[in-house]
Amino acid sequence: MNTNISPAIKIEKTKQSKINDIDFNNLPFGQELTDHMFVCDFKNGKWQQPQIVPYQNLSLDPSSKIFHYGQSVFEGMKAYKDEDDNILLFRPLENQKRINISAKRLAIPEFPEDYFMEGLKTLLKLEKDWIPTTEGSSLYIRPFVFATGNGFHASPSDEYKFIIACSPSGAYFGGKVKVLIEQKYSRSANGGVGYAKAGGNYAGQFYPTQLAVDKGYQQVIWTDDTSHKYIEEAGAMNIFMRINDTLITAPTSERILDGITRKSLIEIAKDEGINIEVRKITVDELTNAAENGTLKEMFGAGTAAVISPIAGFGYQDKDYDLPVLEDTFAARLKKRITDIQYNRSEDKFGWRVVVK
Ligand code: PLP
Ligand code: COI
Repeated sequence: MNTNISPAIKIEKTKQSKINDIDFNNLPFGQELTDHMFVCDFKNGKWQQPQIVPYQNLSLDPSSKIFHYGQSVFEGMKAYKDEDDNILLFRPLENQKRINISAKRLAIPEFPEDYFMEGLKTLLKLEKDWIPTTEGSSLYIRPFVFATGNGFHASPSDEYKFIIACSPSGAYFGGKVKVLIEQKYSRSANGGVGYAKAGGNYAGQFYPTQLAVDKGYQQVIWTDDTSHKYIEEAGAMNIFMRINDTLITAPTSERILDGITRKSLIEIAKDEGINIEVRKITVDELTNAAENGTLKEMFGAGTAAVISPIAGFGYQDKDYDLPVLEDTFAARLKKRITDIQYNRSEDKFGWRVVVK
């Protein structure tokens, strides 16, 4: 929905900034929150005046539908700062569109494009000093919307809150990860909400992931829910596999999130002359490739982690190690995408947006 009305954002600035308490050289991921947040309420059938207020707790009625029926969707994006102090975003309209695709699936009203973009840009200009410039860090941005209407009736809420909160963040994962190919649990199913960034999708992943962690793995590789034969996603990331010199990623579907990093990497790989195949791949093909030495690399791709190389995987009580290579597709693609994001290179795709 685009209302084509530039929203007048009411701004209340904090009286006491927390910025001096932050160690910008030692940032965890998503733990420290900036001074302000963007908030807009949906009431009486429409979005109300958007506001930027000091970051603060919320007060909600215990019968709010978010607590009972999980009506909540979110986005993950990042802001970067270049050497000339410009604030940069990466394909922000894709996130704006996707939060509304997610919202629609959960019967949440769509949030207007101009409210989203104006709110985001105004908030970033206010929080400019919070955008870290240390290597590998950025300002992680979390837009989200959830049901605030009251009552135990299992039906969509009549009131919602849209918020954008920001966190100066370092790397999501420390290094290479070991993953377990899931054979019992599923993160999504046909006709379900797998393609949406619904909060409940992540809650459903925590228990199987914990079981994998207890066995010594860091993440789960999700397979399709009916046969568990096809590789679908890597934790909260899309997955790429390199067999010989061909890079393979699963096609998106109603079970898989249409990742912005994934689709950008497909374009960059083509531009690099890498042979890329978007096709279904079975666990058998992967284990055979690991056994005959043709499986060269696997990595997860997503906004938070960018590219997360996989060191090895477990499947049916057997562990498969991946080779340690000098020049990897993962490193090449990571350099290309982060050079665009941080304005260290030309952006022939037109993905970078300067916040003015
Ligand atoms: N898959 C899932 C389930 C995710 O949660 C994410 C993270 O957003 C991704 C893939 C990667 O998507 P993107 O690259 O748009 O961040
Ligand atoms: C992201 O990559 O931005 C995500 O939203 C994944 C996440 C659950 C941290």
